[in-house]
This record gives sequence, structure tokens and C-alpha cells, in this order.
Amino acid sequence: MKQSGKFITFEGIDGAGKSTHIAYVIDLIKRHDINVVSTREPGGTPLGESLRDLVLNEKMHLETEALLMFAARRENLAQVIEPALLRGDWVISDRFTDSSFAYQGGGRKLALEKLNALEQWVHAELQPDLTLLFDVPLEVARERLDATRVQDKFEQEKADFFDAARTEYLRRAAEFPNRFQVIDSTRPIPEIRQLLDRLISQLIARQRAA
Ligand code: ADP
Ligand code: TYD
Repeated sequence: MKQSGKFITFEGIDGAGKSTHIAYVIDLIKRHDINVVSTREPGGTPLGESLRDLVLNEKMHLETEALLMFAARRENLAQVIEPALLRGDWVISDRFTDSSFAYQGGGRKLALEKLNALEQWVHAELQPDLTLLFDVPLEVARERLDATRVQDKFEQEKADFFDAARTEYLRRAAEFPNRFQVIDSTRPIPEIRQLLDRLISQLIARQRAA
């Protein structure tokens, strides 16, 4: 695939602060007269949203869960992400494959080779240009998860699960330092916005220089 747009993914354990910054980043990019398509995973297409409903609410075998995440992703890539990047639009995704490594791999201990195989199958040629990893200690994420928010299957998991998911995220950030930016999400929101301003400006400058 010959993409001309940029692909940015938002990652982090539940309650880390991803959603707080997505609209801000979309706005930043639009100010440069760039079209932005936003999507989320699991989901992003009608079929993907149906799969999301199942996978977030039903008990199932771990491998079924992983396969459904990648099935929804395959559809999202085909219907939304790849066409947008080919048109030259930028794509923002609330979670992508790093979530599968963190949650199904780290959290649930599915062998990483199986996840690598699925990744190769579903998007061998495509990786995000920038992955923003919102990182906070577990206790902070827990406190931030609104007590009134209805918690899905994952949000009801125990501390060990999220600890392992966070560790896997950080391991991947160290493995792929060129695309990951680890953001200390305990910092105040205005400070994080300043950092996001810088990161997006750099990405735009890189694209214009290419
Ligand atoms: P996520 O999308 O990662 O699950 P949210 O963006 O919904 O997390 O954030 C969870 C809660 O934490 C929200 O109430 C949000 O206002 C709050 N929050 C997010 N970032 C910060 C921050 N840097 N400092 C303080 N509170 C924050
Ligand atoms: P999210 O959209 O962050 O939930 P919410 O709308 O409640 O903030 O993500 C849904 C959940 O799905 C989240 O707990 C992480 C999980 N997930 C996986 O386990 N594997 C994956 O591959 C993806 C994309 C998400």
C-alpha cells in the first residue's frame, strides 16, 4: 500500500487519559488544512461495532477474543483506515494492534508469537507513524475511571491484569522507539497538550519535507 497520509494511534490502559486528548489532536491537525478521519478499535465499521459489542460483553475463549479483535481490525483497515491514508487523509485511531499485545498478550498471556502471526496476516505492510502511549501508574488509572461509568469486561479486570498490560505497552515502546511516544499522563492536561502540539508539528514538518 502506498500511503500518503499519516496514521496516529492512541494507546494506554483504561483510565490513562487517551480519550481526553483525542479531540484536541484532531483539532490540531485540522488547523493545518489536513483532512482527519477518526476511528476506534475494536469497532470503526458497522461490522466492527457489532464485534465490539460481543467482545466487550461476552465471555469467550482467549483465542476467540484475540481473533475477533483482529477480525474487526481487518474490516476497519479495509473500509476506513487504508482508503483514508491512500486519499492522503490522516487517520487517528483510539487503540490499534498495540492494545492486542497489551491486553490479550500482557494481560491474558496469549503467546506473543500468535499475536505476531495475526499482525503479519492483517497488516504486514502497515504500522502507525506515531503511537501516543498515555502512561500512568495503575492506582491513578483506577481513581480516574469514573465510578459511575458502566464498566465493560476489561475494565472489571483485577490490578494484575492492568499491571501486565502496562508492562507490555512499555516493552513495546522500548522495542519500537521510532514510532512510540510515551506520555507521562500524570502531568497536568495543559502540559500534555503542549507536548502534543510539538509532536504533531514535528510530524507535519516531516511530511512536508518528504
Ligand atoms: P481513557 O480514555 O484512557 O480510558 P479518559 O481520557 O476517559 O481515559 O480519562 C479518564 C479520566 O481521567 C477522565 O475523567 C479525565 O478527565 C481524567 N484525566 C485524563 N487525563 C488527566 C490528567 N492529565 N490529569 C488529571 N485527570 C485526567
Ligand atoms: P476503549 O474503547 O478504550 O473502552 P472505553 O470506550 O470504555 O474507553 O477499549 C475497549 C476495551 O477493549 C479496552 O478495555 C481495551 C480492550 N481491547 C483489547 O483487549 N484488545 C484490543 O485489541 C483492543 C483494540 C481493545
